[in-house]
Amino acid sequence: MKITIIHGQNHKGSTYHIAKMLAEKLDGDITEFFLPRDFKEFCTGCTNCFRKDETLCPHYEKIKPMTKALDEADVLIFESPVYVYHVTASMKAFLDHYGYRWMIHRPEERMFHKQAVCIATAAGAGMKSTTKDMADSMFFWGVGKIYRYGVAVMSTTYQGIKPKIKNKIEKKTTILARQIKKRHKHVKPGMKTKLWFYMARFLHRMSWDDSDLNYWKEKGWDKKKRPW
Ligand SMILES: Cc1cc2nc3c(=O)[nH]c(=O)nc-3n(C[C@H](O)[C@H](O)[C@H](O)COP(=O)(O)O)c2cc1C
Repeated sequence: MKITIIHGQNHKGSTYHIAKMLAEKLDGDITEFFLPRDFKEFCTGCTNCFRKDETLCPHYEKIKPMTKALDEADVLIFESPVYVYHVTASMKAFLDHYGYRWMIHRPEERMFHKQAVCIATAAGAGMKSTTKDMADSMFFWGVGKIYRYGVAVMSTTYQGIKPKIKNKIEKKTTILARQIKKRHKHVKPGMKTKLWFYMARFLHRMSWDDSDLNYWKEKGWDKKKRPW
C-alpha cells in the first residue's frame, strides 16, 4: 500500500505525530511532504490551469513531485493544525493549485479509487471546519472514500497531551487503519460523488472551456465510460 502524507506545517507537533501514527499502522510505503518547506507558492490567479493546461502554471515544475506522489498513492493523508478555525495558509495555498482537478474541470481518474484521511488537531475547537477545508478538495477531486479525524488535544505540544487523550488517539488511529486496510483495492465512490460527476458532465454539454471539454471527450466520460 502506498501512502502519501501532506503535512500542513513544517514542524513535528501533535498533528504530525497523529498522521505518522496512522500511516505507520497502515504498514505501507510512506512518502511525505511538509508545507511550506516542500512547496511554498501562492496561486497567482492566472487561471491558465483551468482555461488552458496545468503545465502552464508558473509553479507546475515545483509541485510536480507532489502531484506524482498523490497520483501514485493508494491512501492520501492530509493533515493540518487548526489555525484560526481553518487549515494553515500553506495547506490552503497548496490545495488552491489543484482547482483544475475539481470534478467540474479535469479530475484525475485514479482519485476515484483512492482513500483519503483529513486530520486536524486544535487546542480546543475548529476541527470540523479544518478537516472540511481538506475534505472539500478530496471530495471534489473525486476521491472514493474520505475519512475525517479532528482531535481537541487541549495542548499546544504533542508532549503536553494528557495520557487519556493519547489513548483515544491510539484507539482511533487503530480503527481507522483497520477500515482503510479492509477497503484497500475495493474503493468505489459513493452516490454523492457520482451525482456531482453527472452534474459536471451535464454542465460541460452547455458550454465550457475547450481544455475541460477535450479532456472529458478523451476519457470517454461524455459517452459511456466512467472513472470508477
Ligand atoms: C496561529 C494559530 C492559530 C490557532 N488557532 C486555533 C483555533 O482556532 N482553535 C484552537 O482550538 N486552537 C488553535 N490553535 C492551537 C493549535 O491548533 C493546537 O495547539 C494544535 O494542536 C497544534 O498542532 P501542532 O502541534 O501539530 O502544531 C492555534 C495555534 C496557532 C499557532
